[in-house]
Amino acid sequence: MMATLMQATAPAVDPFDVSRAELYRDDTWHAPFAQLRAEAPVYRCEHSDYGPYWSVSTYKPIVEVESLPEIYSSEVGGITLADFIPESDVRMPMFIARDRPVHTGQRRTVAPAFTPSEMVRMSDDIRRRTAEILDSLPWNTRFDWVDTVSIELTTQMLAILFDFPWEDRRKLTFWSDWAGDIELVKNEELRKQRLGYMYECGAYFQNLWNAKVGQPQTPDLISMMIHSDAMSHMDHFEFIGNLILLIVGGNDTTRNSMTALAYGLDRFPDERAKLEADPSLIPNTTQEIIRWQTPLAHMRRTATRDTELMGQTIREGDKLALWYISANRDESVFGPDADKIVVDRPNARRHLAFGHGIHRCVGARLAELQIGILMEEMAKRRMRVNVVGEPTRVAACFVHGYRQLPVEISRY
Ligand code: HEM
Repeated sequence: MMATLMQATAPAVDPFDVSRAELYRDDTWHAPFAQLRAEAPVYRCEHSDYGPYWSVSTYKPIVEVESLPEIYSSEVGGITLADFIPESDVRMPMFIARDRPVHTGQRRTVAPAFTPSEMVRMSDDIRRRTAEILDSLPWNTRFDWVDTVSIELTTQMLAILFDFPWEDRRKLTFWSDWAGDIELVKNEELRKQRLGYMYECGAYFQNLWNAKVGQPQTPDLISMMIHSDAMSHMDHFEFIGNLILLIVGGNDTTRNSMTALAYGLDRFPDERAKLEADPSLIPNTTQEIIRWQTPLAHMRRTATRDTELMGQTIREGDKLALWYISANRDESVFGPDADKIVVDRPNARRHLAFGHGIHRCVGARLAELQIGILMEEMAKRRMRVNVVGEPTRVAACFVHGYRQLPVEISRY
């Protein structure tokens, strides 16, 4: 079996190069990952658009790598398969791409924005805004769920978190889409365009920052950063980098979970019926939707020394892609029906979509809160989302999501 995989590395296109964007655009990533999980859970891909890399595709070794941050660095090569190119990339250090001890201090600064008590404080606001959006939707008429619901809700939430000017909030979506698009690595012109947008974003946030410096602390993230020790000594790029991290972190991911909720439940109508009959399943369904979608397909680590992972020799400097998208389909953890949404799946919570270890998603509670409230408010209105055309998907191996989803809503 392994021989098949070994021979497969010889041709120009390695069928097990799971970084190819078309696999995600066409939703054809399932089969190569199933084979990798079965035959080579730690697999060396020699040729890809991102150079050679190791694919880590099952649950256990991903947890192992993320538990050893000294050996597997987030900082040395960054967190995506795309390498940093000094001429056309912005230097934007963010704490997701820092190792200890800098990571610890900077994470501690923003963590208070996501505590359970903060979530309680924000939940009324989130509920009100969710209700407003749902009440504005046309019944039995075709519209795009991504733009009307998923983008609008996540963008509103970010605008509240940052105390960002309301009328400009779609700028957050725009900047985030550019910042998170790792496919740009292949196009010099687009990279330069991105650079321009990131400077524009930086300048905009710098103005917001300037307006809050020297003012009493307010409960938004910019003010929190200004008043913290670890963040207040950052240079311009570090400040912008960390802000962009929070925007991108909270934007595409939650947005795509909200779309997965509409799309996924439509694909599994028996499961949707279970949920409609029993809204107490909403918290578990939230986890299950996040597992099933896995809005970030991978995070990257770089080995800081020679080591061994599941019998494979990893050399210092090697890059590893931790494929959460595949680990969340790992049959040994989630069973043979891992590809399905099962709203009462007993271990849905064990998913790796938020990562694991010291970098585990700091915004997880907020994402869960938003998605849970969306489902609760839909249940109150007995609102069902019917998918009426194929979704358009993001063509990328990092952000795993949708550009459009045509739907109609009806009452059940
Ligand atoms: C880190 C996924 C929502 C902010 C991460 C990581 C993943 C992830 C995979 C990296 C974990 C690792 O390297 O081990 C998700 C998913 C979300 C979501 C799937 C929604 C369903 C959010 C939200 C925010 C956010 C709403 C904030 C508004 C961050 C930040 C980090 C992070 C700041 C860096 C944490 C660190 O390095 O210590 N997220 N995220 N995320 N996320 Fe999220």
